[in-house]
Amino acid sequence: MCGIVGYVGHRNVVDVIFKGLTNLEYRGYDSAGMALLDQNEIKVFKSLGKLINLKNVLSESSAQLTAPTSGIGHIRWATHGSPSLENAHPHTCTCGKLAVVHNGIIENYKELREELIKKGCKFRSQTDTETIAHLVAHEYENAKDLEIAVRNAVKKLQGAYAICVMHQNVPDVIIGARKNAPMLVGVGEGENFIASDTPAIIEYTKKTIYLDDNEIAVVTKNSIKITDIHGAVINKKVETLPWEPVALSKLGYKHFMLKEIHEQPDIIRNILNGKIYDIDSPVVLNEVKIDKDTLKKLNKIQIIACGTSLHAAMVGKYLIEDFAGISVDVEPSSEYIYRKTTTDSSTLVIGVSQSGETADTITAIKQAKEKNSHVLIITNRPDSYMARLADSLIPVNAGIEVSVAATKSYIAQLISFYLLALHLGEIKGTLSGDFLKNIKHELIQLPTKIEEILSNASSIKECARIFSSFKNFIYIARGINLATAYEGALKLKEISYINATGYPAGELKHGPIAMLDETMPVLSILIPGGITYDKILSNSEEAKARNAKLIALTSSDDENLKALFDVVLKIPHVCEILSPAICCVPLQLLAYYIAEFLGKDVDQPRNLAKSVTVE
Ligand code: F6R
Repeated sequence: MCGIVGYVGHRNVVDVIFKGLTNLEYRGYDSAGMALLDQNEIKVFKSLGKLINLKNVLSESSAQLTAPTSGIGHIRWATHGSPSLENAHPHTCTCGKLAVVHNGIIENYKELREELIKKGCKFRSQTDTETIAHLVAHEYENAKDLEIAVRNAVKKLQGAYAICVMHQNVPDVIIGARKNAPMLVGVGEGENFIASDTPAIIEYTKKTIYLDDNEIAVVTKNSIKITDIHGAVINKKVETLPWEPVALSKLGYKHFMLKEIHEQPDIIRNILNGKIYDIDSPVVLNEVKIDKDTLKKLNKIQIIACGTSLHAAMVGKYLIEDFAGISVDVEPSSEYIYRKTTTDSSTLVIGVSQSGETADTITAIKQAKEKNSHVLIITNRPDSYMARLADSLIPVNAGIEVSVAATKSYIAQLISFYLLALHLGEIKGTLSGDFLKNIKHELIQLPTKIEEILSNASSIKECARIFSSFKNFIYIARGINLATAYEGALKLKEISYINATGYPAGELKHGPIAMLDETMPVLSILIPGGITYDKILSNSEEAKARNAKLIALTSSDDENLKALFDVVLKIPHVCEILSPAICCVPLQLLAYYIAEFLGKDVDQPRNLAKSVTVE
């Protein structure tokens, strides 16, 4: 949600910042902007909408620029103030000599704004961010030192911020500060960077320093100084990023989403490799740092997450209860944080997050830590703030996910839950040897089965063509695939803007059946051999009797299904307990192809952002 890039160094400043913003654009695309220090003057360029518009503004304004030596840039996901040019970052102080970009929300901005207006500051936008520009400028007038001014200003801010500041009187110095929003320094040679996330700098350096809350980084091309809120210098560890710039390329696919869907078989292979050596040996999950005796006695788990990660958590609940007999609650982070929970030191709290940045989940995790719970984080970003809060960390290793709609990170979270649930079951001794062998064997087969789906996607594409004109969908399932129905419907909603709802099949008759007619297709997830098949079939019949068009997603070979369903999407045979890891793939493709047919912006759907850093 929003992205920041600051640069000072020997390269073309506009190109570096633009490239960095391009690699962050999945985080927000309401507007973009840059402030550049050029000929001892701060020059600001802004555009509405996607980043490409900023490129056009910059080329039209090229006559105004000679050779900028440092700069800061931003892409915005609007929170305070509509997506307009005045509200686009960077924001400047009244005299225009100081510029700031900001991620997060300043909660006390109204009070600060009123005070600053009284002191003569001229505001030009509705944003909370502009308050920071005036506040730092005001502090600078008093302190005559930009570092001290930033420190004094952030002490007055309440809420969440990652900011990057520059002032024309302090040339080629960029200052970053953070609280409850991610920020890092990229370490180069004769150049340095400040950014809100690693993709912004990966083209130029893999060396990174992660700032913690209340830290301030003063960066020039040859120096990096990090201090705490009181000005004491801190020696921070320089870490090396684990991935390559190629992760940010579409590799010939039309969209990142399609590429990421196709990466799933190899991601599963990578995760299983090193965790399941053979079907006779226990799962190796050294990441769980709780001793075996405590795990054996564990009788309560709470899983907190948002969106797609919440759906992975729902599958996780089912697995842990089934394999290990431990009671599991699953809750959206945004609900968990506003109620009195029963979390205590004997509860294992699991936070699930692709980005490791989601504000709701971070707040929930902090609350759980305050109650002395052991916190296990399942995330795709082991470099994230959430990961650093973890007592135990399971990195899902899906690689950077660029498409705003989560796909490969979801499957990676699911596989991590299979491993965790098996691990807990093995420790508690709740699973038979035969069951363990079979399930491990089946897990290892998953990538090949998904490859089969991916190479026979034409039926899914045809189904998407037939159904792309419908405005409403219901996805029904029972048991472990209820989460699959929620997730499939969420994918469709997100990227095609079609009103799709996941619903427990048995609940259809308790209300939603009233909506059914020929305009409301029903997609049923039917896995034979399991306990839910016949019941879902009956629920599908009930929908048919109300003239709904029916789609089956099934591994059944029953030819009679063709008489009941308008379209039968076949998947390879799979046992019910593992079927969520298979069924999610055709539903991702169905959503993708429908959005494609409708000409939607698949990778960057409207109103969304890849990581949601506001509560
Ligand atoms: C959906 C999607 C979102 C995220 C949600 C939580 O495709 O990506 O629903 O799952 O915003 O984000 P993370 O997993 O980063 O905590």
